[in-house]
Amino acid sequence: MEFYEVIKTRRSIRSYKDTPIPEDAMGRVLEATRISPSGHNRQFWKFYIVEEGEAKKRIAEGCDDQMWIADAPAVIVAVGYNVPFSRGGYMGDMSFMMDVSIAFTQLILAARAEGLGTCWIGAFSNDKIKEAMGLPDDENVVAVTPIGYPDKGVFSENTSRKTLEEITEWVK
Ligand SMILES: Cc1cc2nc3c(=O)[nH]c(=O)nc-3n(C[C@H](O)[C@H](O)[C@H](O)COP(=O)(O)O)c2cc1C
Repeated sequence: MEFYEVIKTRRSIRSYKDTPIPEDAMGRVLEATRISPSGHNRQFWKFYIVEEGEAKKRIAEGCDDQMWIADAPAVIVAVGYNVPFSRGGYMGDMSFMMDVSIAFTQLILAARAEGLGTCWIGAFSNDKIKEAMGLPDDENVVAVTPIGYPDKGVFSENTSRKTLEEITEWVK
C-alpha cells in the first residue's frame, strides 16, 4: 500500500471482528516495530502480544474500563525500561517514552498497511496494567492498542484536523 495512503486512512478502530490475525501479517507489523529508530539505538523496549481472553480483559480494565479493547483478537502492550539516560538533560530517564512512541507509531501504520485496525490507548493506569500482567518493576507501560480486522470502523481520511496554516509558521 502506498505510504501516504497508509497515513491518510489510518483511523482509530474501536470495533473488531474476531477473525484471527494471520501470522505473516502480524510478523510484518512486529518487524516494522523492531526496526524503529531510538536514541543512541538503545532499543529499551518490549512489546507484549496478548491473545488470551482473561488477560485481555484485565488489561482493558486497566485502561479505564474500556472493555471493547478486549474484543479484538489481540492487544499489544508496549513497555519501556526506566534506565537513567540523559538526552541533553531534557527528558532524562523518561526518554523511553519518546523511543517507544516512535516504535508504536510504526506498529500502528504497518497494521494499517496490512488492513488491520488499531487504536492508540493512552488512558490507562501503569500500575494496574503492570499488576494485571505481572510486569517487573523496571518496565513501564507507554501505550496499548487492540489489533484486528475492523468491524464497523472504516478506514477513511479524518477531516477533523487543524489546517496547515494553523499549525505551521515559516521562518525565513
Ligand atoms: C496518545 C493517544 C492516546 C489516546 N488514547 C485513547 C484512549 O484511551 N481511548 C480511545 O478510544 N482513543 C484514544 N486515542 C485515539 C484518539 O482519540 C484519536 O486518535 C483521535 O480522536 C483522532 O482520530 P483518528 O485516530 O481516527 O484519526 C488516543 C490517541 C493518542 C494518539
